[in-house]
Amino acid sequence: MKDVNALLLTLAADKEVREDPYPIYREFRSLGPVLVANDNFALATTYESAAQVLRRSEFGKSPDREDRRRSNISSLRRQDLPPSMLFQDPPNHTRLRRAVSQFFLPTNLETLREKLKDIASRLFGELRDSKEPELISSFALPLPVWVIGDVLGVPAEDRFTLQPDVSKIAKTLDFNFNQDDSVAKEAEASSARLISYFEELIEEKIKNPREDLLSAIVSNSASLDVPLSKKESCSMAMLLFAAGFETTGNLIGNATAALCHSPSEYKRFLDGDVSTREAVDELVRFDSPVQLDGRVVEKEVDLFGVALPEGLFVATLLGAANRDDLVYEDPDALSLSRTGPAPMSFGSGAHFCLGSYLAKMELGVYLELIRGLKTPITIQDYRRKESLTLRGFEEMYLLV
Ligand code: HEM
Repeated sequence: MKDVNALLLTLAADKEVREDPYPIYREFRSLGPVLVANDNFALATTYESAAQVLRRSEFGKSPDREDRRRSNISSLRRQDLPPSMLFQDPPNHTRLRRAVSQFFLPTNLETLREKLKDIASRLFGELRDSKEPELISSFALPLPVWVIGDVLGVPAEDRFTLQPDVSKIAKTLDFNFNQDDSVAKEAEASSARLISYFEELIEEKIKNPREDLLSAIVSNSASLDVPLSKKESCSMAMLLFAAGFETTGNLIGNATAALCHSPSEYKRFLDGDVSTREAVDELVRFDSPVQLDGRVVEKEVDLFGVALPEGLFVATLLGAANRDDLVYEDPDALSLSRTGPAPMSFGSGAHFCLGSYLAKMELGVYLELIRGLKTPITIQDYRRKESLTLRGFEEMYLLV
């Protein structure tokens, strides 16, 4: 049996693992719920250990330990922007999250549903009419870019020009020992462009507020005692714009692949034997667009008998947690009417994904469109993204 370091090398370097990381996750789980690796970090490999790391107060984001973080975040720091709420601990995290949380409540997001359906049917129609229907660039990415752009108040003509810069930053999030410096350099240039774009947009929203989230942030509509500064508003705008579309685009692609590889479950869905909501929940579990999350140990702690010293980074294997047979029966099977705990795909605890309802709504609208076809779509060809952290497809050609 391989040890944890050998498994990590395979995970980081082996191309086949990109195709299917789940067998290697099983090997990690069989070594134990908490594993300490050579390279001065640990891994939480099961549902319960990952949940504890994400929820317990001994673990945090440690924004002051910036040097430990990946290049994109330090590049943002160099450009004098405060870390967004994603990289903050309470009490500042609580304050920043409060500035926007009411906009992401289901009751508020449901008001977007009809508009979301309209744009989704238009994009889906265009996808079907094209000579070589390619799901990712024609539907899976444009849909969430359109939606979050609309929520935030990013002018329609700018949304798609900003998207490539966000994708470049997303690349630096990968867990890959072989990543070359050019990826970090490109990300730095991209973050500089995004920062100046959003700084300008914020000035515009201060001058001419509209009915959108960015205007609400700059006018302190959440009535915070300490409103967000311009720089904090800029970090927030970039986070919200970026967090939503690469992930949701990957979710739509991964869900399509999962259905196509499980024809009997796909048929049950088409026949109406399972609800859209059940299907969405299981597809989110089955192949999560975010495979890795993590925290820094802020106070020495014993987790499942393993002593974790202060300052150690603990990576939580969300994809492995979602396939843990201690909590899910037959976890490697897609089972659309599955019951069980909520998957770890959106994280857990104080940083639980703010956009989870929105992402699930977008997937649900897509599933209803493909259910309307009555016959299953098929995948003709595809190319996967290199990234393991953000798991998804670069291209997926369909017969639709
Ligand atoms: C399938 C799609 C998505 C997945 C899998 C996903 C996953 C995640 C995960 C795992 C986290 C937790 C990170 C942590 O532990 O610190 C997170 C946080 C976050 N997500 Fe998502 N996300 C998705 C879509 C979205 C969308 C559509 C939005 C917004 C438009 C969004 C906004 C955020 C924000 C703002 C946070 C940080 C919350 C905080 O720090 O308190 N996400 N997401």
